[in-house]
Amino acid sequence: MKSIASAPGKVILFGEHFVLYGGKAILCSINKRIVATSQFVDKKKVIIRSALGSAELDIQSISKLNFGNTKFMKPFFYIAERALDEHGENKGIEIVLKSEVPAGIGLGSSSAVCVAVVASVNGLFKKLSKQEVAKRAIEAERIIFKETSGADTFVSTFGGLMTYGINDGFHEISTNNDLDLVVANSSQAHSTREIVRQVRTFREKNVEFFDQLCKQENDIIKEASYSLKKNDLNALGLLMSKNQDLLQQIKVSTKQIDLLIKEARKTSYGAKITGAGGGGCIISLVDESNLAATVDNLKNIADCFPVKIDYEGLLYV
Ligand code: PMV
Repeated sequence: MKSIASAPGKVILFGEHFVLYGGKAILCSINKRIVATSQFVDKKKVIIRSALGSAELDIQSISKLNFGNTKFMKPFFYIAERALDEHGENKGIEIVLKSEVPAGIGLGSSSAVCVAVVASVNGLFKKLSKQEVAKRAIEAERIIFKETSGADTFVSTFGGLMTYGINDGFHEISTNNDLDLVVANSSQAHSTREIVRQVRTFREKNVEFFDQLCKQENDIIKEASYSLKKNDLNALGLLMSKNQDLLQQIKVSTKQIDLLIKEARKTSYGAKITGAGGGGCIISLVDESNLAATVDNLKNIADCFPVKIDYEGLLYV
């Protein structure tokens, strides 16, 4: 028996970083997915196979190991170990991962993979509710990224366009607009954990200034929620640019990102970093009138591709 689940990546339209300090973020899941396929194996091992690498561990050794460069797989081993333990199952599990979400560039691959693996592994025993999947996926992700706000995990699990706050959870934003975005990759590798740490240090050294930026972000989020409901792309594009200014002020932009944004703004409604920054990706807001021109323009200097909102979130296949 195989248990298959898939979960989408995401983009953050507004509010990254500030969401970690009590603000809200606006984000949506995107039509690029990670699929996890789990099945029991006779040997008492957890086996992970993916394009980024494979690993195989004895169940008894999982909690004792130093994972080295397969550290990103640590949450998957814990998810499998916990499920086997909870159900008193005396077998092992093989998990095969297939991904359309490029890793480590701010598109939420680490959260999406945790969501897909939790659903797929537990589906071997009993399908979990989306709420329970999200809870376990956040616990698993916190093994390697303790500070995560949980935004990526919730949007990957529930899908669609939403506001998210650490204290208020998520609220769906209903819009008639099936947003079109172009993602462009700066090709600068980034570590979300490291950038989040740098921003925390920046905040500690600039307490009042950071507070002012949080207030500005808050205003942007309020206006953006309104503009999304009204489907006002011009206003949204301007708000994205304002949000990018704030991200620049907390020093998570880079020269390469600034260049991509400058180019993207020539043809799109607006552009900004998505995710932690310090590299990773930008998003540009477009519609059918300027999508092709934006891709044509950006593809001369970066890997880029269009994405749309995914409304399904976690799917059991
Ligand atoms: O780079 P990503 O996709 O992991 O996004 C990080 C967003 C942050 O706000 C910086 C962190 C978080 O957990 O919300």
